[in-house]
Amino acid sequence: MNRRGALEIDDRKIFERESPAGRIAREELAALGPRLSEVRDWIGRMEKDGRIGYRALPDQDVRPILRAARRVRETADDFVVIGIGGSSLGAVALQAALAHPFHNLLPRKTRKGPRVFFLENPDPDYLAAVLDTLNLRKTVVNVVTKSGGTAETMANFLVIRKVLSKAIGKKHSERVIATTDRDNGDLRAIAREEGYATLPVPANVGGRFSTLTAVGLLPAATAGIDIRGLLAGAREMRQRTSTSSIDTNDAWRLAGLLYLADTARGKRTVVFMPYATALREIGFWFRQLWAESLGKARDRDGREVHTGQTPIAASGPVDQHSQLQLYMEGPDDKVYVFVRAERFGKRVPIPRAFSGSKTCALLGGHELGGLMNAEQAATEEALHRTGRPVIRIDLPAVSPHAVGQLLFLLEEATVVAGGLLGIDPFDQPGVELSKILTKRELEK
Ligand code: PA5
Repeated sequence: MNRRGALEIDDRKIFERESPAGRIAREELAALGPRLSEVRDWIGRMEKDGRIGYRALPDQDVRPILRAARRVRETADDFVVIGIGGSSLGAVALQAALAHPFHNLLPRKTRKGPRVFFLENPDPDYLAAVLDTLNLRKTVVNVVTKSGGTAETMANFLVIRKVLSKAIGKKHSERVIATTDRDNGDLRAIAREEGYATLPVPANVGGRFSTLTAVGLLPAATAGIDIRGLLAGAREMRQRTSTSSIDTNDAWRLAGLLYLADTARGKRTVVFMPYATALREIGFWFRQLWAESLGKARDRDGREVHTGQTPIAASGPVDQHSQLQLYMEGPDDKVYVFVRAERFGKRVPIPRAFSGSKTCALLGGHELGGLMNAEQAATEEALHRTGRPVIRIDLPAVSPHAVGQLLFLLEEATVVAGGLLGIDPFDQPGVELSKILTKRELEK
């Protein structure tokens, strides 16, 4: 049972004998202690020098974001967020986790804000479909790109801007909020020229670590999500991941176990499997965080290393009917991280009926949430019994406070894992190359 709304990690099974192939000895984890202390010092140095800023985000002044969100809520029917990668995945994950799942379909009176649309791919059919649904006279656009020059984002923005200016003329500039670097980049220059409202992405917060900046928080606040609660959860987790003990520091534990599973047990894949539909998109957010941060050709001394565990975003129980066969009997090269919500927002009892049907008779009297968690427990146990390594993250509920804890935990664990691997978790030379080559293709 969770205490005081705190997220908890249950990693007991990964140490147990039933899991001989995946089992990690407690001493192995404990032996990482000195290296983890070095990693903590390295993180501390970067924080002190101002090179990294994600750990300071829980303390930020959110009033400018709340003001901007209030203005949008008061004036807009539709809010279009344009961004990609670290400039969209976190925002999408927050909406999916914490807004009504059919937010856009609710009547305006019961909706907590305008309808929210995300444009990520520069896909003409998808963009045209979004345009079909917008009330252009009451649309606000949030263009999000830290660098200010990502091709997909700027292409979508140029199209939407033209459509808006056709619909409402010169006033379209008042309907754009640019979330970008404070000083640099094409979008910053355009925003100055056009007089757009802007919100900054701190220079020392990289794309995939920017969910708790205006990148994720403006769309969240616009949809009526409690962003202060989110940051309070993140702050609490920062406190808990600042201790120097593997027994109490959840980020050290999670990172240490996944690192050992990868490098000492050959579990080159991590399956991230939440059992709450609302948390599904967090799996996609984590997939980018883990992959882009840890997949590196060289370590910090320039040696060729080719690190990185491949993350899979799965979702329970649906993927029991899709992926589980492979997880149970396929290659033993994976470690499984489940996420479970102890309490769902709604309690939905399963009615008793058709007592002649064994399945219906068994289900009647339980609750849907109970069934979700029973399936999670059964899947975890089944994998454990076949010797596959499992870890579970328990959330007290899918609330802003719990999601804030989860996001911060996963960010911190990613950085710690990067430290253990000896690589730089904050760069992405591979992504940069593909951006350059895309532009060259266009020049051709
Ligand atoms: O995490 C990252 O740094 C990347 O995934 C970027 O977020 C992504 O490439 C988008 O970049 P930008 O925000 O500059 O448009």
